[in-house]
Amino acid sequence: MKSLFDLIRFLLVLSAFGLIPHLVLAEDAPLKLTIDATAEGKPISPDLIGVFYEDLSYAADGGLYAELIQNRSFEFGPADHEGWNALTGWDVIKPEEGRARVIIDTGLPIDPNNPHYAVLGVAAAGETVGLRNYGYDGIALKAGAAYGFSAFAIQLADAPGPLRVALEDADGEVLAETTLPPATGRWEKYEATLTPDADCDDARLIVTASHPGRLGLDMVSLFPADTFRGHPNGLRPDLAQAVADLKPRFVRFPGGCLVHGDGLDNIYHWKHTVGPVERRKTQRNIWNYHQSFGLGYYEYFRWCEDMDAEPMPIVAAGVTCQNSGAGVSRRWGQGQRAIPTEDMPAYVQDVLDLIEFANGPTDSKWGAVRAEMGHPEPFGLKYLGVGNEDRITDEFAERFEMIFDAVREKHPEVTVIGTSGPWPDGEDYDRGWALIRQLGVALVDEHSYKPPQWFWDNLDRFDDHDRDGAKVYLGEWAAHDDGRRPTLRAALAEAAYLTSLERNGDVVVMSSYAPLFAKRGHTHWNPDLIYFDNQRFYPTISYHVQKLFGHHAGDEYLGQVDGVDVAQTQLASSVVRDRQTGDVIIKLVNAEPDAAAVDVTLAGADGFAGEATLLTLAGDDLDRTNAAGAPDPVLPEETRVSVDEHFSLTLPPHSFSVVRLHRPPGVH
Ligand code: AHR
Repeated sequence: MKSLFDLIRFLLVLSAFGLIPHLVLAEDAPLKLTIDATAEGKPISPDLIGVFYEDLSYAADGGLYAELIQNRSFEFGPADHEGWNALTGWDVIKPEEGRARVIIDTGLPIDPNNPHYAVLGVAAAGETVGLRNYGYDGIALKAGAAYGFSAFAIQLADAPGPLRVALEDADGEVLAETTLPPATGRWEKYEATLTPDADCDDARLIVTASHPGRLGLDMVSLFPADTFRGHPNGLRPDLAQAVADLKPRFVRFPGGCLVHGDGLDNIYHWKHTVGPVERRKTQRNIWNYHQSFGLGYYEYFRWCEDMDAEPMPIVAAGVTCQNSGAGVSRRWGQGQRAIPTEDMPAYVQDVLDLIEFANGPTDSKWGAVRAEMGHPEPFGLKYLGVGNEDRITDEFAERFEMIFDAVREKHPEVTVIGTSGPWPDGEDYDRGWALIRQLGVALVDEHSYKPPQWFWDNLDRFDDHDRDGAKVYLGEWAAHDDGRRPTLRAALAEAAYLTSLERNGDVVVMSSYAPLFAKRGHTHWNPDLIYFDNQRFYPTISYHVQKLFGHHAGDEYLGQVDGVDVAQTQLASSVVRDRQTGDVIIKLVNAEPDAAAVDVTLAGADGFAGEATLLTLAGDDLDRTNAAGAPDPVLPEETRVSVDEHFSLTLPPHSFSVVRLHRPPGVH
């Protein structure tokens, strides 16, 4: 290197190839950000960041719901998935010769809602007959951890004998075993704890009888003792915690298309999802598998409470999904179906009953069910979504109005959220908004699944929104990059859009990225916020964006970087204040391939001078994803920056930066 000039040229070349990502290339004048830390800001909704939860891509069964046994109640069938039957997930264990067998019966069920059960028929002494379950792609076990086994059993004929229960690895090595006492002549629940002596990612559960006779078996279950917050019938702790770590202000549930269902017989009925699990009425999942409803409305409300998040149930607006039939060939083209008018009063009552289940006193019918399940205190429901991205037909409008009127009259304390159809524009969007205005609905659910560039092009979408009309809930949204990959490009577009939502946080009062979860190998929709398998979870870069916004939210908007031409430059920003701590938070998105410099002038800087926290999410390549096994995931890095009346920030190429200026205690 002969001269300083050569050195600079060398550094510029390295930087152009992303090898010195933090070098400020721009010879342009630095961007200017002026913050008046003493000014009063524009209000931002405290509930801006929430989550959208739907049992899609095995998010519940095989995912968040900690049950390890697939098809525990023998209710799977071809309606759930082509080729499935009551023994899907199970292998029959029986001698090659002889009359021993396992059948599925329906003559004497535990409950009519749960009609199928297995019958183990041991024909002669010395025969072993039973069932082997593979869980969801194998059962992942940890050595020394406790697992709660339970099953309902009934002795149907002959003298009862003990039942052997074991956990085995794929080679048949026993990891844990126990014996249950002989069953009686009526359905009873039997429980035991199994503690495997080795880790195993691919275990099986074995239940066998060796005593001549016929034994009925149902609700064969295996739960880790370690569930989120230790609840029985609880949630997988790592996945539930991953959501809690987002600091969601609300949780939308149960979808999504799952809400309005694939045909009239597939609408989500909340009453099927509460009470003892053996009495819940399972059904086909619109995403082509089975819903056990083990994670039902009670478990959902409890999860919200654990996370200090508002529940936001969504109920069907008396119509089905307009795409009904899309996944099941015989129903192709069925389209939106409406609950017959004469059945609507009962349906409306169901909706009111859900509010009573959440909020009613323990001497009310549904409040008593909640109390019986273990939660006498009300859950404090404040929001109820009616409809999920429906086509805004006359049938829809008529039924929506019936539900809206009834909730408004009986539960004025609950805010009803309407829908503006599947897209952020077009006929349904316009008709949806017209209906919202006509009825005086306070909050509207709008959906935007769009390419990253759409979000950059729409940063001003809400700037001129009517401030006096209904507020917006951006209920499902995500940037869909080419191939629907969860790229850094998508995540940065989302971060930029979120800065625009903060700027318009007086009108866009809630938002939830969708979908939340997808199990690897069972993913029906991409991209998702969190991918997982039986052992681990893989948060996408979008997850980290949501988390940074969730943790560094503000309730007052103070401004943005001056004079950025978003048509020319992919730079976005927002400055907010968190009134509770007094902290000022600067968010800066630079999706450009070059670094950018920002000169900050901080009026009223006294209290903030010193060091601020800087969190940076950056990657050398916009195509980067945090896919499972990615050697070098894109993660936020925390450092410190010096802050004074004037200070400079360098935004690395392809980055999202959050600067938190800490208000010292006692300084106002
Ligand atoms: O989030 C996945 C799906 O996208 C939802 O179920 C549906 O509402 C939307 O089309």
